[in-house]
Amino acid sequence: MVFEGIDGAGTSTQAERFAAHLRAARRMVHVTREPSAGPVGALLRQVLTHRISLPGARQAEIMALLFSADRLDHLGAEIEPLLRDGYVVISDRYDLSSLAYQSTTAGEDGAGSGAIVEWIRELNRHALRPDVTVVIDVAPEIAEKRRRGRGGAEELFEKTELQARLAEAYRRAEELVPGDRVIHIDGNGSVDEVARAITAALSAVVER
Ligand SMILES: Nc1ncnc2c1ncn2[C@@H]1O[C@H](COP(=O)(O)OP(=O)(O)OP(=O)(O)O)[C@@H](O)[C@H]1O
Ligand SMILES: [Mg+2]
Repeated sequence: MVFEGIDGAGTSTQAERFAAHLRAARRMVHVTREPSAGPVGALLRQVLTHRISLPGARQAEIMALLFSADRLDHLGAEIEPLLRDGYVVISDRYDLSSLAYQSTTAGEDGAGSGAIVEWIRELNRHALRPDVTVVIDVAPEIAEKRRRGRGGAEELFEKTELQARLAEAYRRAEELVPGDRVIHIDGNGSVDEVARAITAALSAVVER
């Protein structure tokens, strides 16, 4: 299963909370995230933290290519072997992030975003579909406050205006991953409130 949302939505917090809930029910659970711990993931993290800079013109496309390469590496090296061993694997971000972020950042005026969505889907054609994607919808101002509270330097995509456009992309997540099962959760409440909403929404999915 996959947890998604804008930066500071609480995906990492809630992925861990839900994993703890499943472990308490004696399920084998593995939490992972994108960018992965693999070699392409390490490269991506250096771009996100501005340790490496990409040429401006095709930045979104380069990021889409790197993320799709990282995703297939992550699946083969980490996720699929664990699924075969019977683990529930929770990924903090997946290809919905590529579709939301790279389609929102490609082209200054958003022109051609339909074409880039098609292209990103094609790049991710071999990526296993998740059982369910939990989209944590949070107001951009609330997410920004949380990011500030967390501290650290601003990452590549952490601009308020961009985050507002991303929040809109996530509200329409179903259009980006047609055919996937998507559950929206109101993430504006406290950590406990959001965790309760997720547990309730996912109880049917994990009763198997
Ligand atoms: N519901 C909540 N209410 C208040 N604070 C929260 C809530 N959820 C998370 N936080 C806090 O907000 C900060 C961001 O949360 P978290 O790291 O889980 O977000 P994220 O979606 O994983 O962000 P990123 O996409 O940047 O990794 C953390 O300091 C976390 O403790
Ligand atoms: Mg996170």
